[in-house]
Amino acid sequence: MIDPFGRTITYLRLSVTDRCDFRCVYCMAEDMTFLPKSDILTLEELDRLAGAFVRLGVRKLRLTGGEPLVRRDVMTLFRSLGARLGHGLDELTVTTNGSQLARFAADLFAAGVRRVNVSLDTLDPATFAAITRWGRIGKTLDGIFAARDAGLAVKINTVALRGVNEDEFDALIAWCGQHGFDLCLIETMPMGEIDADRTDQYLPLSLVRSRLRRTWTLEETGYRTGGPARYHTVAETGRRIGFITPMTHNFCESCNRVRLTCTGMLYMCLGQDDSADLRAVLRRGATDDDLTSAIRAAIARKPRGHDFVIDRRHDRPAVARHMSLTGG
Ligand code: 5AD
Ligand code: SF4
Repeated sequence: MIDPFGRTITYLRLSVTDRCDFRCVYCMAEDMTFLPKSDILTLEELDRLAGAFVRLGVRKLRLTGGEPLVRRDVMTLFRSLGARLGHGLDELTVTTNGSQLARFAADLFAAGVRRVNVSLDTLDPATFAAITRWGRIGKTLDGIFAARDAGLAVKINTVALRGVNEDEFDALIAWCGQHGFDLCLIETMPMGEIDADRTDQYLPLSLVRSRLRRTWTLEETGYRTGGPARYHTVAETGRRIGFITPMTHNFCESCNRVRLTCTGMLYMCLGQDDSADLRAVLRRGATDDDLTSAIRAAIARKPRGHDFVIDRRHDRPAVARHMSLTGG
């Protein structure tokens, strides 16, 4: 699959549920309304769509949400997707808040997962409770260590929040160094209505990076995962640190990915509204060829990039849907 700007699409992020056991302040409102079950693709439908993408050249699949590990029987899906490893698929990964990882780490490894991204914005229990509203840090930390012990490489994702966790990045770098985890810092993106004011949360990572350089030696690396992060090596720990800067830098030129929501909407760009309804195609009784042509038609409309701006005057999100629907 090659899009109109010559980018080859090899990466699919698959949101398997819009639900989550947390209510992070930058992601959700506290009283979220979730989708009715009939709107959500079944595990069989998710597997069939993923299979179509793999046939079309997707080599890397990441399951996201919401929180993917709260979906009932999700391990069945991991196993069926894992069976595609080595048959077109190179990598199967997951982004999780870690709350269920202690329970599932060994099963994930057995299904062929070798790397997990765990969201952890702070090491402080009270701050963790304040950011996630419903989460407890102990469960997430247990999950992280269970993942490591099961043989999974762990990357920690941290959303940078002004006045909330901005004093903790040194501690997080040291902690990741100590335990052998890579770290990725992320700018907040204006996606979906939340209770808070996003302008208050936003912390530019250009500023964070120059502050970190007072303590740490950040060496340039050419390391890329095909994703939006720019990586450095922290000389003192030997671990990588990535920066995802959708607000201060546009990273779209090298975008290799598309996103499928748990309702079967294919979003060609995280920051744009255009989508293709693959559930409708599927539930109309599509053949594999029908699916393939619907996907190709969508890829032919992939936009050049996002244009996130924080609408300061109206405090309106740039994209109406929540990250928990499209997958982070
Ligand atoms: N902006 C930036 N990151 C977000 N995440 C969720 N919502 C947002 C947002 N609005 C992050 C989560 C997780 C990843 C999947 O996306 O913290 O690390
Ligand atoms: Fe759940 Fe992740 Fe959103 Fe937090 S950021 S509420 S863990 S989906």
